[in-house]
Amino acid sequence: MTSERLRCTAFGRELANPLGLAAGLDKNGVAADRWQELGFGFAEIGTVTPEPQAGNPKPRMFRYASEKALVNRLGFNNLGSRAVARNLEGADVRSPIGVNIGKGRATPLDAAAEDYRKAFDVLADFGDYVAINVSSPNTPGLRSLQKLDPLKKIVDALRKTSASKRIFVKLSPDQTDEEIGEAARWAASESVDGIIATNTTLSRPIEAKEEGGLSGAPLRRRAEEVCGIIAAVAGKLEIIGVGGIFTGEDLYRRLRAGATVCQIYTSFVYRGPTAAPDILGELLAVMDREGVGSVSDLRDRR
Ligand code: FNR
Repeated sequence: MTSERLRCTAFGRELANPLGLAAGLDKNGVAADRWQELGFGFAEIGTVTPEPQAGNPKPRMFRYASEKALVNRLGFNNLGSRAVARNLEGADVRSPIGVNIGKGRATPLDAAAEDYRKAFDVLADFGDYVAINVSSPNTPGLRSLQKLDPLKKIVDALRKTSASKRIFVKLSPDQTDEEIGEAARWAASESVDGIIATNTTLSRPIEAKEEGGLSGAPLRRRAEEVCGIIAAVAGKLEIIGVGGIFTGEDLYRRLRAGATVCQIYTSFVYRGPTAAPDILGELLAVMDREGVGSVSDLRDRR
């Protein structure tokens, strides 16, 4: 789906459209230069940890198809930062790329900042932005790094390496509204460029007995709400909206709620390889209905 009306800018780059691939699908960057061909405006690689790790025992990913949801407890299975850097080095990437980094499972929480720095040192050059993942529910204790003190330690460690690389923090939808507002205000006052909202949830708005992070349609309402909270308190931050976007209507609403650009994972699983162009086609139809000329106009209207 190419249309001048979909063009937009984010993380200092021109994007063909505002719909990206969310983290977790191409954890190792094996297809970093293919997502653009499936119609995505950008793609986020990872989560990558400094060293390779196997993740949790299988089965670790479950479909709840009638609810348009997934539960996963993959646990950061990935080839490690150096192997992912080799994959990205060889890729013919023409659309923007984000690199999402995390801490190794065995690394103590008080040494987490060092893990993020190690992954950042190896991978930052390959990304238009780097996402600090402190919100996956499948690495014990990881989400406690969303508190401002540990988060500041991580950002400070990365800023020692690069003052200019765009840095995004990915948040959980399970924090309270107050915690999210506080994190966003803090991010805007620090050298953080944006927030990715949101990761998967441990809440169970549907009946799903498997343990792990829930994604897809049941997450939509909360993810949209979180986007609105961040936009309201920290207007200068860029926001990558993610969680439960299945249709052009969902995408339109998320952009209206304050997202600069958006991402999908679960709807790509259910709608299949044409998900991005299909959703973008639907977005154009909604824009026609609402009398919105272009994605940039949409942002100006907020
Ligand atoms: C994810 N997600 C994820 N996020 C992240 O920051 N690092 C990761 O490694 C993963 N891994 C992962 C695996 C699987 C199987 C799923 C379904 C999801 C979370 C993902 O990027 C996104 O934030 C949520 O899934 C919400 O978006 P959707 O799926 O509702 O569009």
